[in-house]
Amino acid sequence: MKEKLKAIVEEALEKIKDSQELDKLNEIRVAFLGKKGELTEILKSMKDVEPQERPVIGQLVNEARSILEDNLDEKKKYFAQKLRREQILKETIDVTLPAKKPMIGHRHPNSIALEEVERIFVGMGYEVVEGPEVEYDYYNFEALNIPANHPARDEQDTFYVTGDILLRTQTSPVQVREMEKGRLPIRIIAPGRVFRSDAVDATHSPSFHQIEGLVIDRNITFADLKGTLAEFAKQLFGENTRVKFRPHHFPFTEPSAEVDVTCFKCQGEGCRFCKGSGWIEILGCGMVHPRVLKMSGIDPKQYSGFAFGVGLERIALLKYEIDDMRLLYENDVRFLKQF
Ligand code: DAH
Repeated sequence: MKEKLKAIVEEALEKIKDSQELDKLNEIRVAFLGKKGELTEILKSMKDVEPQERPVIGQLVNEARSILEDNLDEKKKYFAQKLRREQILKETIDVTLPAKKPMIGHRHPNSIALEEVERIFVGMGYEVVEGPEVEYDYYNFEALNIPANHPARDEQDTFYVTGDILLRTQTSPVQVREMEKGRLPIRIIAPGRVFRSDAVDATHSPSFHQIEGLVIDRNITFADLKGTLAEFAKQLFGENTRVKFRPHHFPFTEPSAEVDVTCFKCQGEGCRFCKGSGWIEILGCGMVHPRVLKMSGIDPKQYSGFAFGVGLERIALLKYEIDDMRLLYENDVRFLKQF
């Protein structure tokens, strides 16, 4: 019996040692320690053993059982550790590898140009205000002295929402809204989106941006307008920039002018940028028409003022030497990153 036990233990230990995976180990456990296992069989055959020998054999069987259990457990632990080691090895992260650069956006040339314009006027004591993009006909046309038969009021040029509601075609209606408040003096710029029923090409878009300017106080003259815009042009395009006022017509200003600046590229010599003239048109302006003041409740005998309207895209295109406006609306970050 002792010999048999010893042989069983030796055989089991050998098998445990040779086992290469957890399944095999479980088979071995069943084969030796299971209900019909070899060791269990021995216990069952105890009835054939001499009674006085039974305790000794019993103890031997128990010892054999605990040796096998210890060995099985140890091997099981070894397998678990091995599995974990392999997993860790597989999941290793090389923290010294360079990281993937996150894709980040870039400020739009329009935004950069607008901030520049705002900085200049805020520096001169202006306030930045906004008005609605969906506007009444009254503010966009009527109160700005734009007559009923004016071509701008045509459906070909203006997006109408209803008969008297439209998408503003200019930022000038913000002038009216500001004057109506009855708080004087006024010194504001009003940047914003405007809409016109235009087809897209290199210089046109159905939606673009303007920056409106308005100053109302006692004794405001054309000289104030000239001085203000000359200073603006210098700060925006450089100290040597000169301005030229050309007579023009706008229904809401009298007199009205268009303003050209000396070409910042050739300083007035004439180049591709200014189409050889040395000058570049940048805005429209004028002294606010007395009728416009009156309609908004301001007495033209006591107050006067000037107004101007700048195309934001025009400034951005000039400042950053972009030759197609469509590039501003595609939002290709490879393009935007250049500014
Ligand atoms: N609103 C004009 C336009 O869209 C621009 C303009 C011209 C605005 C003269 C003004 C101004 O305030 O005085 O063409």
